[in-house]
Amino acid sequence: MSEAPLHRLYSHYSELPPSLRILYTAALCILGSGYLFALVYLFHSHSGRDGNPMTLSYDDVVIAYAGSGKGSKLESAIRGPMSAMLPADEGSAIVKWAQQGADRATYDSFVKPTLDKRCLSCHDGSNPHLPNLSNYDGLKKVTEQDTGTDVFTLVRVSHIHLFGITFIFFLVGLIFSHAYVRPIWLKCVVMAMPFICLFIDVISWYLVKIYHPFALVTMGSGGLMGASFAFMWCVSIYQMWFSRTPQAVLDRYQSNKTVIG
Ligand code: HEC
Repeated sequence: MSEAPLHRLYSHYSELPPSLRILYTAALCILGSGYLFALVYLFHSHSGRDGNPMTLSYDDVVIAYAGSGKGSKLESAIRGPMSAMLPADEGSAIVKWAQQGADRATYDSFVKPTLDKRCLSCHDGSNPHLPNLSNYDGLKKVTEQDTGTDVFTLVRVSHIHLFGITFIFFLVGLIFSHAYVRPIWLKCVVMAMPFICLFIDVISWYLVKIYHPFALVTMGSGGLMGASFAFMWCVSIYQMWFSRTPQAVLDRYQSNKTVIG
């Protein structure tokens, strides 16, 4: 079976003026380093959540989007850095109260007097960096269970991701469109893949909140997106500067010459 002829509008890198190849290469280099920084940032902001900062695991992704479902800031503070501020039995009683829904009546009768005595020397609201524990509303903020990234933040990050990443893959795809890759369907799949993955990735963040195993979808689509990026990047740079002009392109050049005379 002979190969389909080159598309009339297709031009290989070797047919582009050097200025355009310089522009493409410069853009690829900056986008590539941007991608690496994004990976470092992703790792740093997510990897320690499950208690192991060396890996980015399934649990990290679940906790990031759906929360650990355990404990509140108040609970981890009383069990951790604030444990010296009050006797253990009072601490346990407050943790239990928070776990059971932080009701108002117990707050008035027991929690408030305890906190007033033990905590207000620092948490009276005068320091904007510390939670204000002098009233019920302030305390309520640190008694909520950890439910992961809130929906509003996800919406904000979603629109930034959808706009920003589309722009990146549009540019990389446009540059890669000059590559000579056979079979053609493979080339098309590699170019479309990041957009499909981007969409699935963003949707899966919300779904992780509902059903934790969607974290696998988040990880898978992120991985595929990275793989497409790496493939397009490497093939583009290689064909632009290091590989020989493909035979099909040379043949077209030859036959054009014959036609023109
Ligand atoms: C001597 C001053 C001091 C006292 C007393 C004190 N705290 Fe704190 N608290 C701090 C400081 C400083 C921080 C911020 C640094 C940190 O998280 O270790 C903090 C942070 C916190 C946080 C926020 C943790 C987070 O994850 O953001 C909570 C909740 C908290 N304290 C609760 C309490 C409770 C409850 C008491 C009383 C039993 C108390 N603190 C008594 C100084 C104090």
